[in-house]
Amino acid sequence: MDHPSNGRRKFLRSSALAAAFLGIAPDQLSRAAIEAKLDLLTSTPAARGKSVMGLKKAPIEQVKVGMIGLGNRGSFHAKLVHALYPKAKLTAICDIRPEYAQKTADFLKENGQNPAVYTGKEDAWKEMVRRDDIDLVIVVTPWENHVPMCVEAMRQGKHVATEVPAAVTLAEHWEMVDTAEEMQLNCMMMENVCYGDEELWLLNMAEQGVLGTLTYGECAYIHNLRDSMLSKIGYYNQWRIRHHISTDGNLYPTHGLGPVAQYMGIGRGDRFDHLVSMSSLQASLTEASQSIEPDNEFYNRTDFVHGDMNTSLIKTDKGRLIQVHHDVVTPRPYNRINALAGTKGYHEGYPSRLSILGKEEHAWLPDEAYQSYRDKYKHPIWERLKAEIEKNGGHGGMDFVMMYRLIDNLHQGKPLDMDVYDAADWSGVTPISAISVQLGSAPVQFPDFTRGHWQKERSLGIQEFV
Ligand SMILES: NC(=O)c1ccc[n+]([C@@H]2O[C@H](COP(=O)([O-])OP(=O)(O)OC[C@H]3O[C@@H](n4cnc5c(N)ncnc54)[C@H](O)[C@@H]3O)[C@@H](O)[C@H]2O)c1
Repeated sequence: MDHPSNGRRKFLRSSALAAAFLGIAPDQLSRAAIEAKLDLLTSTPAARGKSVMGLKKAPIEQVKVGMIGLGNRGSFHAKLVHALYPKAKLTAICDIRPEYAQKTADFLKENGQNPAVYTGKEDAWKEMVRRDDIDLVIVVTPWENHVPMCVEAMRQGKHVATEVPAAVTLAEHWEMVDTAEEMQLNCMMMENVCYGDEELWLLNMAEQGVLGTLTYGECAYIHNLRDSMLSKIGYYNQWRIRHHISTDGNLYPTHGLGPVAQYMGIGRGDRFDHLVSMSSLQASLTEASQSIEPDNEFYNRTDFVHGDMNTSLIKTDKGRLIQVHHDVVTPRPYNRINALAGTKGYHEGYPSRLSILGKEEHAWLPDEAYQSYRDKYKHPIWERLKAEIEKNGGHGGMDFVMMYRLIDNLHQGKPLDMDVYDAADWSGVTPISAISVQLGSAPVQFPDFTRGHWQKERSLGIQEFV
C-alpha cells in the first residue's frame, strides 16, 4: 500500500498536469487555483437570448436543405433527405473534397435533383450557408467543425442539425446554446440511437411505469474502430484518431447516453449534476500502430493519451446514477449496453433482455413473456413508418426515423424532439470527463445549459404517437 505522503505527491504531480490542462501558470498552482478555474469553467455565462426550449416556428412547406460533409455518413444522409422529397429537398451540398461532393451530386442528379455544389476549399461551406434558398443546414463533418459550422449557419438565419457529438470544448457548447437562443433557431444533434426500435420501446415502458422508479442506467459506445482510425482512408485526414492524441476522456458519449437521458427525463425534470471519470491505460493504438505502413503519420506512435477504456459515472439531480463507457480500440463486439434499472424491473441490451418484479426475478424473462412486452409497448412510430423504414433503413431503420422526425416537425412547425440543451448535456460529457480524468477522477459539476429550465417536466415530442 502507498504511504499517505506518496499519495499526496502523486496528487500534486497529477495536479501539475491538470494545471497545464486547465491553463494555470505553474507558479500559481494550488488546490484553490484549480477549484477557482473549475468554478469558472462550469459556471453559467450571461444569456444572449430567450430559452429555445419548446421552440415553435412557422411551418415550412418544403424544407430546403444544405448539407456540409459528404463522407461515410453525409453521403447516406443525403439519400435519406432525398427519400423525403417533396417534403424536403437538397438545394445545396458541400464537401471540401471535390470527388465526394461529385459522388453525392451524381446520385441526386440521377434521381432528378440538381443541387448547387460547393467544394475545393476549406471554407466553401460559408458561401453555401449564405444562400437564401436553405431552411436547414445539416452538418456531417469532423467533430471540431460542428460548432463553427452550426454557429455561422444560425447567424445566417438557418436551422441546424449536426452529427454527434455536437461540440468538443465547453466554450463551444455555450457558443452553440447561446447562438440558438440569440437567433431563436433550432439546433438539433442528430442522435439517431434515440429512434431505435429497442430504445423507443424501452422509453415507452419507462414512461408507462413498467420499470417502476428509475434508479440507474448503464450505457456505452464500444466499437472496435482501430483499423479505420489508423487507416489513411477511413476518415478524412484521419481526423478521428487525432482526438486520441489530444484528449483522455469519453470522446463519443451520445449514442449510449442520449436514450438513457430520455428514459430519465434529463432536461425534463432532472439534470446531470456531476461526473467522475477514469480511464484505463492506453495500449491498443500504440501496439497496432507498430504494424501499419511506415509512411502513415500514425506509424509507431507512443503519444496516444486516450485510455483504451474510459468509464464515467454521472449523478443526476434526482439522485440517479448513469455509467457511461467509451472504448473504440479493444477487439471486442459492438455494444451500447442500454441498461436501465427501476424498482420494478431491469433491461439490458446486447442482446435485449428483461427482468420484471414478481416474474422469475432471478432470471431473464423467457422468450414468450419477453416478446409480449415487446409487442405491448412497441413504439407506434415504428409501425406507422414500417414500409419506409424497410425501404430506407440506416442502422436498422433508426436513421430514417430520425430524419423523418426532423423534417416532419419542421414541415409542421412543431418543436423538434431533441433541442440544443439535449445536444449540450449529452456532448458535454466529453470535456467534463476529460477534466475529471486530468484531476485524478475528481468530481466535476455539469454546467446548467438550460439556465434552470430543466426543472419543468414536459413530454417528449416523439411520445405524441403513444
Ligand atoms: N450517428 C451515427 O451513427 C454516426 C455514424 C458515423 C459518423 N457519425 C458522425 O458523422 C460525422 C462525420 O463522420 P464520417 O464517418 O462521415 O467522417 P468522414 O471523414 O467520412 O466524413 C467527413 C466529411 O467531411 C468533409 N469535410 C471535412 N472538412 C470539411 C470542410 N471544411 N468543408 C466541407 N467538408 C469538409 C470531408 O471531406 C469528409 O467527406 C462525425 O461527426 C461522426 O461522429 C455519426
